[in-house]
Amino acid sequence: SDRLMLRGRLLTFTAEPFGAEDTAAYTYIEDGALLIENGMIAGRGEFSELIGDAAGAEIVDHRPHLLMAGFIDTHIHFPQVQVIASWGAQLLDWLNTYTFPEETRFSDDDHAAAMACRFFDLLTNHGTTTAVAYCSVHKGSAEAYFEEAEQRNMRVIGGKVLMDRNAPDGLHDTPQSGYDDTKDLIAKWHGKGRASYAITPRFAITSTPEQMDMARALVREHPDCFVQTHLSENKYEIAYTLELYPEARDYLDVYQRYGLLSDKMLLGHSIHLEPREVAVMAETGSRPVFCPTSNLFLGSGLFNEEKMRQKGIVSAIATDIGAGTSYSMLQTLNEGYKILQLQDQKLHPLRAFHWMTRGNAVALGMEEKIGTLDAGTEADVVVLNSKATDAMALRMERASNLSEELFILQMLGDDRAVEEVYIAGQAQKSGRRPAAIPAFE
Ligand code: GUN
Ligand code: FE
Repeated sequence: SDRLMLRGRLLTFTAEPFGAEDTAAYTYIEDGALLIENGMIAGRGEFSELIGDAAGAEIVDHRPHLLMAGFIDTHIHFPQVQVIASWGAQLLDWLNTYTFPEETRFSDDDHAAAMACRFFDLLTNHGTTTAVAYCSVHKGSAEAYFEEAEQRNMRVIGGKVLMDRNAPDGLHDTPQSGYDDTKDLIAKWHGKGRASYAITPRFAITSTPEQMDMARALVREHPDCFVQTHLSENKYEIAYTLELYPEARDYLDVYQRYGLLSDKMLLGHSIHLEPREVAVMAETGSRPVFCPTSNLFLGSGLFNEEKMRQKGIVSAIATDIGAGTSYSMLQTLNEGYKILQLQDQKLHPLRAFHWMTRGNAVALGMEEKIGTLDAGTEADVVVLNSKATDAMALRMERASNLSEELFILQMLGDDRAVEEVYIAGQAQKSGRRPAAIPAFE
């Protein structure tokens, strides 16, 4: 049937919580239930109360596991699934040595299609139900990405990268071809099913001023599309950018003077910032994206989360595969916690779990659609097992409240802790799915 009821311990957020005492910011139900109809959440509450509405619904009992909104990864590179774990380089060398050569392979549509399938398998197995992805420069890579997501009914955002210089042959577009391909992709995919398009100038180094002009035109012509790029990840990147754009006051000014900044703009990394850049991010509502495992892996630097929050800037959090080292948003929070520790900043586990669900949805302006377990939103749900490994189970013996449990999941959990994932109400790890119990009428 089209009706499904999930039973389990339920956690969802209504606001960003500042510690366990901030109980107004979240809802936790020990014996909770979610009613799912036609891929949407139709109701949520105490199992004992909701069971009266379950007529005809298949009931799946996930106790004692936790039911949460699916994770949202706000910055990931689809053509880098075979770049992850490449040794010994910082950003610019890493791009030239490993990443650009790998991305040239996505000129082959069959390769792109095969990788798209693997990519989404990896995401869902790690509990990620929405991705915001960079595809390669090739139009076909974006086609493969959106086609695979559509088959799985996943809510995704993505775009082909615009890059017309400082990359090898086979990895260039031109200002005109990048514009034309982007227009075609927007016409075909933006707003189709659960897909949205992100206009994607890769970063200042790989786009000429002529291409930035075309990016400006695209953003003007499609104000409801997302925009994504990289900002101030690495010190040599910043120095080279300012050589290429000598008129720019700072790195962000490159994007600002081409009219790219708004609350649709996602700025990957945003690590080494001048005060003016932070002020402009606050004014324009642009969203910095924290990529902890990537920033550590490439030795890029420490994201200053507290400064952003003090200025009222909404940060997102993401894996940045293939510079990131884990597909798991739990592991992303693990490393994020440590990066904030190095700066005497505290990431409470409730705030961490909010961040990768509703927080990222807010950063995307999509909190009415995804990121919570609220009725009327899309039924993307993750089922988490806090005792998935021996280390977790042993530590859980000494845990006495929800915050401790979440922190154990965050520090020790990964795909092994993801018991099940529902996308628009469809179970994804069906081999491990608990036996369904027919509802009594
Ligand atoms: N800057 C420009 N391109 C990339 C990329 O693919 N990964 C990372 N981490 N930074 C970038
Ligand atoms: Fe990136």
